[in-house]
Amino acid sequence: MAQNANTPSHVGIIMDGNGRWATGRSLPRLAGHKKGAEVLEGIIEHADDIGVKYLSVYAFSTENWKRASDEVSGLMSLFEYYLKNKLEKFKPKHGRLRFAGRRDRFSASLLEAIENFERETRDETGIQIILCVDYGGRQELVDAVKNIVSSGVAPSDIDEAVISRSLYLPDVPDPDLIIRTSGELRMSNFWLWKSAYSELYFTDTLWPDFDNAALDEAVAAYATRDRRKGGV
Ligand code: FPP
Repeated sequence: MAQNANTPSHVGIIMDGNGRWATGRSLPRLAGHKKGAEVLEGIIEHADDIGVKYLSVYAFSTENWKRASDEVSGLMSLFEYYLKNKLEKFKPKHGRLRFAGRRDRFSASLLEAIENFERETRDETGIQIILCVDYGGRQELVDAVKNIVSSGVAPSDIDEAVISRSLYLPDVPDPDLIIRTSGELRMSNFWLWKSAYSELYFTDTLWPDFDNAALDEAVAAYATRDRRKGGV
């Protein structure tokens, strides 16, 4: 029977268009990222209100290090600022904050802030907010393969379950719905493995203009999808 639940349990968002939003206003690109972070605060709260259980957001990809150094350092400072000063606003009551991505390229203070919040919210049972930072789907698979090889599993024992449990957050279910803003029609290395049967939703709205109504629209579109997942 086709699944057609009204509310997706896991929503992933590729938050695109911050740069264009800023340049369209003759502002530096970082102003777009700052506005994007404010928008994310509201979207987290709304996602929680409408019953989303996992919200994963693509905040910095493994490829984003190639950007101008002032944009990269500005983004890193923005992440750290939020984790250190704004988390009460950023994280709903009982929300749990998690991270997906590489951890070996952050400054010591950013890594510490990340680890603090993972630890402090570890036992929370509300919505899980997953920040994908220095995340790349291909890198996630490379890291999974390294884990599998170093664990000594025999090749004949490797199956989908072995790979799934070697990924960054094995207990986080596959995204039901992935939203990408700003009119780009690509996945850009987001949740490569977990997105196999995700429903995709694209909107021309730039991320800094995305609001509660835009999330409601995406969720309403999801509710009309016939999720056969390869079945009939
Ligand atoms: C893509 O837009 C956006 C990013 C690379 C950064 C996303 C980060 C945020 C929204 C801030 C999140 C904040 C916290 C605290 C997690 P783009 O810059 O590629 O836009 P463009 O395609 O218009 O240039």
